[in-house]
Amino acid sequence: MTWLNGKVVENRRWTETLFSLCVEAPKLAFQAGQFVRIALDVDGQRVARAFSFVNPPQDPTLEFYGVIVPEGPLSPRLAGLRVGDTLQIASNPAGFLVLSEVPDAQALWLLSTGTGLAPFLSILRTEAPWRRFREVVLVHAVRHARELVYRDMIARLQTERRLRYVSFVSREGAPGALAGRIPAALKDGRLEAAAGVALSAETSQVLLCGNPDMLKDVNAVLGERGMRKHRRRAPGQITTESFW
Ligand SMILES: Cc1cc2nc3c(=O)[nH]c(=O)nc-3n(C[C@H](O)[C@H](O)[C@H](O)COP(=O)(O)OP(=O)(O)OC[C@H]3O[C@@H](n4cnc5c(N)ncnc54)[C@H](O)[C@@H]3O)c2cc1C
Ligand SMILES: NC(=O)c1ccc[n+]([C@@H]2O[C@H](COP(=O)([O-])OP(=O)(O)OC[C@H]3O[C@@H](n4cnc5c(N)ncnc54)[C@H](OP(=O)(O)O)[C@@H]3O)[C@@H](O)[C@H]2O)c1
Repeated sequence: MTWLNGKVVENRRWTETLFSLCVEAPKLAFQAGQFVRIALDVDGQRVARAFSFVNPPQDPTLEFYGVIVPEGPLSPRLAGLRVGDTLQIASNPAGFLVLSEVPDAQALWLLSTGTGLAPFLSILRTEAPWRRFREVVLVHAVRHARELVYRDMIARLQTERRLRYVSFVSREGAPGALAGRIPAALKDGRLEAAAGVALSAETSQVLLCGNPDMLKDVNAVLGERGMRKHRRRAPGQITTESFW
């Protein structure tokens, strides 16, 4: 592994705590859904963290979507970068949240909390989901309505592709979004009703990304439906990536 120099070409601030960095860097080979470590030198020490690509592999500009964890060593500094600043990018993208590892099915469910949306935006801007799955559902769960980001891109995928999008807002009322959390809405049928798609072991592959507690709770609900983690040697229906 080597470190590549990246130059910030845009730092978009969605809310006080949410930001997207666009970065020019030497070309990196990766699969949609993968992540790469990005780093800054802080007091002479290199501080590196994994970030999922928001951009699809064919895009020349890299894009990362992040939240400021106030006490975190890296995220507040990334959020403070300006156009023209440099950061380091590892040369070895990695990760198994990729469609090449996922078996065929009728429906593809992409369930995310917070910044866990990022890898799904990369996947959805490739051809594979539309070629391989009849129904594609993106679910994004956040605390506050203002954190429902990338709405223009999602709207384009709804009209130009056939994306079905369901949002959750857990800490305030929000028109058009479901209330509460993903696992409860899976359990009582509200999520499937909102998507207009059935979620079953026979018909669906489910990718989960974001908060580790969400991953655990959704795994438990899906387990009750006879679904289990997908492994190369023991095929199942659930593929996960925990952000912490
Ligand atoms: C495979 C992988 C991919 C990742 N992709 C992304 C990404 O695309 N965007 C992104 O913002 N982060 C992503 N992360 C998390 C990221 O690597 C950092 O942990 C995060 O940016 C915070 O860094 P930090 O140094 O400020 O704090 P850290 O010391 O790394 O984290 C401190 C604490 O902050 C909380 N936390 C960390 N990340 C998040 C998060 N994303 N949302 C909410 N709470 C969090 C956790 O409680 C964690 O223990 C990913 C992590 C992994 C393992
Ligand atoms: N988002 C903010 O306003 C904010 C502000 C300042 C700092 N931060 C930093 O960012 C971190 C949190 O970021 P975040 O809001 O993106 O992520 P988050 O805490 O993971 O919340 C995102 C969504 O996931 C839901 N969730 C949490 N646990 C779940 C579970 N077990 N099952 C299903 N859903 C679950 C939350 O619901 P609930 O609301 O019910 O928990 C919320 O709707 C904080 O630790 C903090 O460091 C965030």
